[in-house]
Amino acid sequence: MGSALDPHRVLLNDGNYLPIFGLGTSSTDKPVKGETVEAVKIAIEMGYRHFDGALMYGNEDEVGEAIRAKIADRTVKREDVFYTSKVWMTYLSPTLVQKALEKTLKDVQLDYIDLYLVHWPMGLKPSENELFPSDASGKILMDDVDFRETWKVECHPYFNQNKLLKYCQHNNIVLVGYSPLGKLNYSKFVSPEKPILLNDPELKKIGDKLHKSVAQVVLRYQVQRGVVVIPKSFNQGRMKQNMAIFDFELTNEEMKTINGLNKSIRYVTLEQLQDHPKYPFHDEY
Ligand code: A2P
Repeated sequence: MGSALDPHRVLLNDGNYLPIFGLGTSSTDKPVKGETVEAVKIAIEMGYRHFDGALMYGNEDEVGEAIRAKIADRTVKREDVFYTSKVWMTYLSPTLVQKALEKTLKDVQLDYIDLYLVHWPMGLKPSENELFPSDASGKILMDDVDFRETWKVECHPYFNQNKLLKYCQHNNIVLVGYSPLGKLNYSKFVSPEKPILLNDPELKKIGDKLHKSVAQVVLRYQVQRGVVVIPKSFNQGRMKQNMAIFDFELTNEEMKTINGLNKSIRYVTLEQLQDHPKYPFHDEY
């Protein structure tokens, strides 16, 4: 069965498509049992077709259970759903990558996953960062060509990644923005005392004019500039609100105003690791 969001896809450089909008499934530090299954089932019923998960989130079994349940009741077919997982950065030798992927496949109990990313690739040179499924069984290849399909970074109007976006567009790489709402669940990875994106008065003005929430404005901003967004919400109302971004358009003027809000504010800073020689966030991106 199709979905309201089906046409909104971006082409990956291997010929596959990635839905430009999806659901983040990173729960709190300690996921509540059953919460993810319920949220993902409801999301599929609402029309979500892209789910962003990771071994590290600790709930891939529940994401898989929900997807399988919705395939079993014929709401979707496997090929309608795009599932991204991630190998944690300490599992990057070929044997460990294979093991991590096998664990993910065992947890989700799907025949394959659609995209496999390196979760915070600290200190990896691009040529070592080439992991992609070779076939539908999800085998991993490590290749030494400079090949990247997607690049996932924090991205929102206060950290708009304009330079990296230009680079990606030029090089056929899809930019995926995490924390598109400016990271509201203040976990241990987030530095406090930063201005709250969703309270921005300019964004509020634009939202009021369009009868849209600030969250919808910032999500629309991203899809309109070709950035894939995967906001996490397990709340039905907010899940619904977040997907209602394809029935309006921001004008060039509004896009320019939003671009002008950039403050290079990174919310997810992993501060406890900043003395590590491979700390990733001394970089600009
Ligand atoms: P909730 O699940 O209670 O909706 P991330 O930056 O990792 O994508 O996390 C998004 C955070 O923002 C979650 O804590 C989520 O909480 C919250 N959230 C998601 N959508 C909205 C929204 N439309 N308005 C306000 N908060 C939201």
